Amino acid sequence: MTPSSILFICLGNICRSPLAEGVLRHEAEKRGMANQLTIDSAGTSNWHIGSAPDERTIENAAMHDVDISNQVCRQLVAADFFDFDLILAMDNANISNIRAANHENGSAQISLFTAWAGMGDQEIPDPYYGGQQGFEIAYKMIEQAAAGTLDRIAAP
Ligand code: 4NP
Repeated sequence: MTPSSILFICLGNICRSPLAEGVLRHEAEKRGMANQLTIDSAGTSNWHIGSAPDERTIENAAMHDVDISNQVCRQLVAADFFDFDLILAMDNANISNIRAANHENGSAQISLFTAWAGMGDQEIPDPYYGGQQGFEIAYKMIEQAAAGTLDRIAAP
């Protein structure tokens, strides 16, 4: 099934998944695919609800002409498993936490972002505790995975 709604998930929803949301939206706009996709992100934790993305993530995204400064952190909720076709995780710990949050057995497909995008089962490392370089590594992986995701959706 071709997904029309995608929810990106990480632990905090301030580093990786807001970036994935912003990059996928940016790439979808460039390809003229934005109107066929609902794109959002959330965290498995409740630690940063209501916050903007991490400053370092905002700066890194801006270096690549992606503006995520207006996005607001929220937590994954049971309704998301009904509202979204596809839930894409950054790492395997996210996958475990996502499955545990699906109390009401919603039908959303759950996958590692990289795996769904045809990059194999790679985890996108959490850059939160490291230096600026980790944000660029995450950006590069997310950029490739976003392109793979849109290629897959656009494929006949
Ligand atoms: P994220 O990174 O899951 O990519 O948003 C993290 C953000 C915050 C924390 C951990 C990871 N934290 O411990 O607050």
